[in-house]
Amino acid sequence: PKSEDQTILEAYQWLAKLYHHLLYHTKDGKKGLEYLHQRGFSDETIEKFQIGYSPPSKDFIVKFLEKKGYHRQLMVKAGFLTTNDQTNYYDRFRGRIIFPIRNAIGKTVGFGGRSMDGQEPKYLNSPESDLFQKSKLLYNFDNARSEIRRKSEVILLEGYADVLALHQAGAANVVASLGTSFTDSHASILRRYVDTVIICFDGDTAGQNATYKTLKLLKKAGCYVKVAMLPNGYDPDQYIQEFGAEAFHQSILDTPASEMTFLISHLKKDYNLNSEGDRLQYVENIISEIALLESSIQRDHYLRELSEQFSISYEALQQDLAVKLQNSK
Ligand code: GTP
Ligand code: MN
Ligand code: MN
Ligand code: MN
Ligand code: MN
Repeated sequence: PKSEDQTILEAYQWLAKLYHHLLYHTKDGKKGLEYLHQRGFSDETIEKFQIGYSPPSKDFIVKFLEKKGYHRQLMVKAGFLTTNDQTNYYDRFRGRIIFPIRNAIGKTVGFGGRSMDGQEPKYLNSPESDLFQKSKLLYNFDNARSEIRRKSEVILLEGYADVLALHQAGAANVVASLGTSFTDSHASILRRYVDTVIICFDGDTAGQNATYKTLKLLKKAGCYVKVAMLPNGYDPDQYIQEFGAEAFHQSILDTPASEMTFLISHLKKDYNLNSEGDRLQYVENIISEIALLESSIQRDHYLRELSEQFSISYEALQQDLAVKLQNSK
């Protein structure tokens, strides 16, 4: 007999197929397709990522699963259906654009459903389970793996839409975490394939703070990190929509900031640099970061940058760094 997990995996496969079919072949689906086209996603991209659409009907999917012989309770457990009273069952993702989420071997183990009409939450994900563990899964990893390995480099994004947009813009080595924070497990998965991670999160405060945390985790896992920073108010998808793929490559992706350049700029936010005391604390903080760098050439480079930016003598900074290096031994 099939295990529950096997049955759920099989149901995921059926549903992913159905959602994708509905997007292209029904009147309801047309709204979804128009939405995706309007966001600039091509049919080729939609096909590649097997994007789908779940109709607004409350029981279309319920009936479909029933006809296939799946038990309602199991489908609730899998996260396809919801029920308040064990009598009425609803399609959890109804009326949403469906992003199938596959595991490392290409099996669909979850869905991300985006509302199209401003309904909250904007994204609804499958519930956490043995099969669907957000802390270990990376969106598009199965597609991207060979290119990630070949380049020994991966571009890490925030959202599903960003992955589609970058893929369409010619970058195949792209993944995203599933809306939750990036974890140690994610970092160690990526570390097996790459030396370098380019973080390209949204250009807002949340994105910057997430970049800082993610950078720290990746460093701990032994990755070399670069940061492709976006102007405030843009995410990669929006930037490409507005300025085009070529501009995105030239101005953002192909000219990432070094880890230290990002830190120097990011850590500024915590200080009022007009105050002498704050300024000194900030410089101390940066020197501690510089002390963590492996290469003495790099340490020297950033020390000079700091010296110029704050008109502090290079020798003074050097002495400070020497003390920090001594203490960390
Ligand atoms: P679009 O508006 O479709 O371009 O999405 P986005 O990826 O730009 O969304 P955003 O930057 O707001 O969020 C980044 C990621 O966080 C999304 O791709 C989702 O995975 C996740 N996310 C966003 N909003 C929600 C939400 O309301 N609930 C949950 N569970 N996840 C969300
Ligand atoms: Mn198709
Ligand atoms: Mn965001
Ligand atoms: Mn975004
Ligand atoms: Mn977006």
